[in-house]
Amino acid sequence: MKNLRVIEHPLIKRDLSLLRDRTTTSEDFRIVLKRLTSLMVYEVTRDLKLRSQELETPLERTQGYATAEELILVPVLRAGLGMLESYLAFIPNAKVGHIGLYRDETTLKPVDYYAKFPRDLSKSVVILIDPMLATGGSASAAIQYLKQKEAKNIRLNCVVAAPEGVALLEKEHPDVPIFAAVLDRQLNSRGYIMPGLGDAGDRIFGTL
Ligand code: PRP
Ligand code: URA
Repeated sequence: MKNLRVIEHPLIKRDLSLLRDRTTTSEDFRIVLKRLTSLMVYEVTRDLKLRSQELETPLERTQGYATAEELILVPVLRAGLGMLESYLAFIPNAKVGHIGLYRDETTLKPVDYYAKFPRDLSKSVVILIDPMLATGGSASAAIQYLKQKEAKNIRLNCVVAAPEGVALLEKEHPDVPIFAAVLDRQLNSRGYIMPGLGDAGDRIFGTL
């Protein structure tokens, strides 16, 4: 699991427990997912490059900083949308690409239905966002697509990762770091993460 970085924080653990709880309503699930994502943004973006720029305080000239790299956020529809706003709150000038994938319930293979991206991904830091990394099929397909579009610097931010998904990504995309709030035990026979939090998209959008 060398590509996986589990972000440990008491507030993340508390929020993850609220997401796991079956009695949490969709309204609260959305609020908590946003808050937990905000806590993760800090670590996922820790290595962003800065450029120096001079500025004037009310008292004197000093050195300030601006981000030097363009950031492209890519939520995987639908569930990734639940994490997007938290990123945009911190990086309002980020561009956003969308990729629509759903998992076929029988084969568990991803089926793509939508893609819309900024023109040039080659010089940007691309953050793929999706709360669930289960078999890894959806994330792997999304990363493959990003690479076809010339993306070179890709990272994945999920919330719950399964060992099976981490292993698949390490095999197929060893260059992509994975940031998660937790590494869960395993998948069940229907491809759900255990103990997990259920179907993230359904819980966010109330389509249970
Ligand atoms: C969920 C989740 C991931 C995918 C993970 O999406 O948001 O995209 O499953 O599973 P995998 O690692 O086995 O591919 P889902 O297919 O349920 O679509 P939805 O977000 O529209 O509900
Ligand atoms: N997708 C989800 O939303 N939840 C899981 O447990 C697995 C895939």
